[in-house]
Amino acid sequence: MAPPRKIFVTTALPYANGTFHVGHIMEYIQADIWVRFQRMMGADVRFVGADDAHGAPIMIAAEKAGITPEQFVAGIAAGRKQYLHGFLIGFDNWHSTHSPENTEISQAIYKDLKAAGLIKSRTIEQFFDPAKGMFLPDRFIKGECPRCHAKDQYGDNCEACGAVYAPTELIEPYSALTGARPEMKSSEHFFFKLSDPRCVRFLEQWTQDGRLQPEVANKVREWFGQGEDGQVKLGDWDISRDAPYFGIEIPDAPGKYFYVWLDAPIGYLASLKNLLGKQGLDYAAYMAQPDLEQYHFIGKDIITFHTLFWPAMLKFSGRKAPDNVFVHGFLTVNNGEKMSKSRGTGLDPLKYLQLGMNPEWLRYYLAAKLSGRNEDIDFNAEDFMLRVNADLIGKYVNIASRAAGFISKRFDGRLGAVSADGEQLLGQLRAALPAVAQLYEQREFGKAVREIMQLADRVNEYVDANKPWELAKREGSGERLHDVCSACIEAFRILTVCLKPILPKLAADVACFLMTPPDNFDSAQTPLGAGAQIGDYKHLMQRVDMKQLEALFEPPASSAPEPAATAPASARPGGEPLALQITIDDFAKIDLRIARIVDCQRVEGATKLLRLTLDAGERDAAGAPRLRNVFSGIASAFEPDQLKGKLTVLVANLAPRKMKFGISEGMVLAASHADEKTHPGIHILEPGPGAQPGMRVR
Ligand code: MSP
Ligand code: ZN
Repeated sequence: MAPPRKIFVTTALPYANGTFHVGHIMEYIQADIWVRFQRMMGADVRFVGADDAHGAPIMIAAEKAGITPEQFVAGIAAGRKQYLHGFLIGFDNWHSTHSPENTEISQAIYKDLKAAGLIKSRTIEQFFDPAKGMFLPDRFIKGECPRCHAKDQYGDNCEACGAVYAPTELIEPYSALTGARPEMKSSEHFFFKLSDPRCVRFLEQWTQDGRLQPEVANKVREWFGQGEDGQVKLGDWDISRDAPYFGIEIPDAPGKYFYVWLDAPIGYLASLKNLLGKQGLDYAAYMAQPDLEQYHFIGKDIITFHTLFWPAMLKFSGRKAPDNVFVHGFLTVNNGEKMSKSRGTGLDPLKYLQLGMNPEWLRYYLAAKLSGRNEDIDFNAEDFMLRVNADLIGKYVNIASRAAGFISKRFDGRLGAVSADGEQLLGQLRAALPAVAQLYEQREFGKAVREIMQLADRVNEYVDANKPWELAKREGSGERLHDVCSACIEAFRILTVCLKPILPKLAADVACFLMTPPDNFDSAQTPLGAGAQIGDYKHLMQRVDMKQLEALFEPPASSAPEPAATAPASARPGGEPLALQITIDDFAKIDLRIARIVDCQRVEGATKLLRLTLDAGERDAAGAPRLRNVFSGIASAFEPDQLKGKLTVLVANLAPRKMKFGISEGMVLAASHADEKTHPGIHILEPGPGAQPGMRVR
């Protein structure tokens, strides 16, 4: 027998500036299915993840929240487990790039690259914020687009006309941090010499030798060769940043830090080393195993880092380059709704879990859509319900529920002998196992699911042809009933093995019900056999309920960003830290209007609410005032009569919200301390004299 494969698997390290969105979860589910499959095949797998903690955006976000970057990323890290456990994602370790292991390995790799003659330094000119005393990343420089003259565009591209440019080309540039006019300042930077012929030769080979997915290899090929200027296209890579920076210090270069993308992939190794440490194993010895395979699951937006910089860093620091990088496409939700990297989409994975929705539904649905290519996939609510209810439950789970009752009621829970027609069916299922395994190996999960559902169709045809519910009623058919139901149970066991990488919890429940040790593709070739005792059937999986999907996609009542971590009191004016920074464009989305409170009533059955009738200057087609109904949680602070006739500020473009007492068409602004108990009181906002209903507040 071949020795077991030894495999090291990672997923991309998410930025530690926000909670997981469903795109992250999809990547983890994809990798987790593959890892579980490899383990079923006997492989010895280490599967790790970590937070990508470094970089200027995180440093700045922490500062805004009034906490240290360490506190900030610790707050994010603390929230990870609930998602990973919730979706049955079996990482062996979750670590951080802000860790002693990562510092040590990053500095070692850098020194090795330097010794190989692949690090050079050069002085470059860059925008510097004099008020803040720091060099500004492109994202933090704004100004007027040099092409279309749109105001307040980012330093690297214009969102109005799509132009791409250098920050120095912006007209009237300003720092997004302080508003100060940035100055050009020079500084020494370190570069990884990717243009070195050794690197170019190696990368052309590594990326084009057939290991990468064809569409990925083609994309990468565009980055090689010579540009129009005759220079090698592959440019040297700027790997240093100046203090202040949240990152890892560059050895022998005071005030210089590694650019976050240098130490981020090294975080894979750091997490592995941390895991091996906990297992009492030696990292160097583990990495030195000649037959160790190394794979990285990533999304298509970070191909460059993983197919150029990362393999070259490893190779020329005297380490082994990865065996492969598996690239997936992007997940969109309900027909391509764009997913913001920081805010995600309407599908909040935590809300999914909190609603009691089964994580294996999502695992199954995503598996059914995933392939070995990097095409985008869409989560569609109706399709989701259909596939889970009609296929997973209708075709697969039902096989067990149709047969198990008879086995326990009529045959003492023991399986019987299966006759030729049943054996023929089981033979077909067993013969399909290697093909299903092959599809898992190739990450063709969608094809695997289709194949498995076709097998389930055959089993259901067999059930329909033999009608156990009729056999049960017919005199003298007991033996045939036993035979048919036993074939069904065995078929169900084989299908369960096929689905086990996708549905680990269900497979464990089935093993319990069948009273078998955990099955794998090999053991499923041998039947449980006549006389085997099985347990009582308990319902294995609920159907998706439309109501759950409606609740999942209902917009949240308040979309205020949750504070990332707890800030010290000094940084908590009014009892809470400032929310994350927004742009003027974000603010412009909120339409605030002056409104008159024309009526105010208590709400029967609600102690906190007042019903406000507001005139925000709106008129219908006939010119009659259009009044708004708004429920406001301010009953503890006001008598209705106190408010009647007052002017206040209305959030006029807030999505209407259905409440128990009616529809609320907006929100009025009021001030309060975060801690109502120690600082009671609610203070409604009133405009200065002269303001009229309908005027915009900006
Ligand atoms: N921190 C870097 C990765 C460093 S790896 C050494 C990063 N982080 S990320 O949080 O922006 O993205 C993490 C992973 O999630 C990436 O593989 C990215 O492609 C993936 N996805 C982000 N949005 C996604 C979807 N909408 N759909 C599927 N995957 C998505 O990039
Ligand atoms: Zn423009």
